[in-house]
Amino acid sequence: MSYKSLETSKTYLVTGAAGFIGYFLSRRLLELGCRVVGIDNLNDYYDLGLKRARLDLLQPFEQFTFIQSDISDKDKLMDVFECHKPHIVVNLAAQAGVRYSIDNPDIYIQSNIIGFFNILEACRHHPVEHLVYASSSSVYGSNRKVPFEETDFVDHPVSLYASTKKSNELMAHTYSHLYDIPTTGLRFFTVYGPMGRPDMAYFGFADRYFNDEPIKIFNNGDFENDLYRDFTYIDDIVEGIERILGNPPLDTVRHKVYNIGNNRPEKLMTFIETIENALGAAVGRTVRFEKIFEPLKPGDVPATYASTDRLQQAVGFKPKTPIEVGLQKFADWYVTYYNKM
Ligand SMILES: NC(=O)c1ccc[n+]([C@@H]2O[C@H](COP(=O)([O-])OP(=O)(O)OC[C@H]3O[C@@H](n4cnc5c(N)ncnc54)[C@H](O)[C@@H]3O)[C@@H](O)[C@H]2O)c1
Repeated sequence: MSYKSLETSKTYLVTGAAGFIGYFLSRRLLELGCRVVGIDNLNDYYDLGLKRARLDLLQPFEQFTFIQSDISDKDKLMDVFECHKPHIVVNLAAQAGVRYSIDNPDIYIQSNIIGFFNILEACRHHPVEHLVYASSSSVYGSNRKVPFEETDFVDHPVSLYASTKKSNELMAHTYSHLYDIPTTGLRFFTVYGPMGRPDMAYFGFADRYFNDEPIKIFNNGDFENDLYRDFTYIDDIVEGIERILGNPPLDTVRHKVYNIGNNRPEKLMTFIETIENALGAAVGRTVRFEKIFEPLKPGDVPATYASTDRLQQAVGFKPKTPIEVGLQKFADWYVTYYNKM
């Protein structure tokens, strides 16, 4: 394994920089001394105040430039590439969320397909040293073989969101093949942490607890045969991306896809109890959620988790943060940020 550290003298273009992963990645790159150009359209899919709070933490870095723009605006995107000449691009801007895609399909086509196509076109006309983009564990659809491996069959996405992410992998492969663009796709598995996404279950559980509302758990209340899920702490994700950045694929077609998850799946109930304990420690009293157990949702599979062997072989990295540590950091941030003491 020959792993190269990223070069801090380069310019990194991060799309979705006001988003959860984009913010933490941008901050890390800035702390290392890199120049970062961040793009985000600051949409209101979730609390805009949180996106602005993340940006407020990036603005003090002299090496940071923020551009409020939509990646589906091709002319504007081309201008950004022309003006800032990024060496390395990380495309994290996307409409995320599986459930939201059922009622709001248009935005997924706009941001994830047209927007990503524009990123590829921009990298074609303004060659870059490496394009890294966000794919998703949702490409595995209802596969039952675990752990999920990059070589598994993923041609049966079960949501439009998953279709757009799988399409991104195909489009990236084609552009890499035709125009020799070194490109890496990262299949993220549920990422959590402080300043995370309010639309995600762990965040919603905390909201519901402090609103005196019960939480719904879709596991039939069957703890013996509980669901197993993969949760990855944000710092691990950032370290994984950081390691990948300086190591574009060297294969003939310079496109590679990696799982970036935690191949230590957790029982759903263990994860929920850990959030209760973490919130309890943060507020200094016992926290127990009121729980309503519901049947499994159609298409839910007993276990989803990543094999991270390919990522480990490529850049020597495997996520390592235990949920007790990661969820405590989330809980501490949550109670302070929302003043829940
Ligand atoms: N967080 C996870 O668990 C997870 C899991 C799988 C995949 N992903 C993918 O990782 C990427 C980052 O996810 P995240 O959790 O940080 O999500 P996020 O929603 O917090 O961040 C995405 C950011 O992109 C911006 N954005 C959306 N559409 C845009 C557009 N058309 N032009 C410019 N900006 C736009 C949003 O305003 C947001 O700030 C996404 O592509 C997502 O699909 C995340």
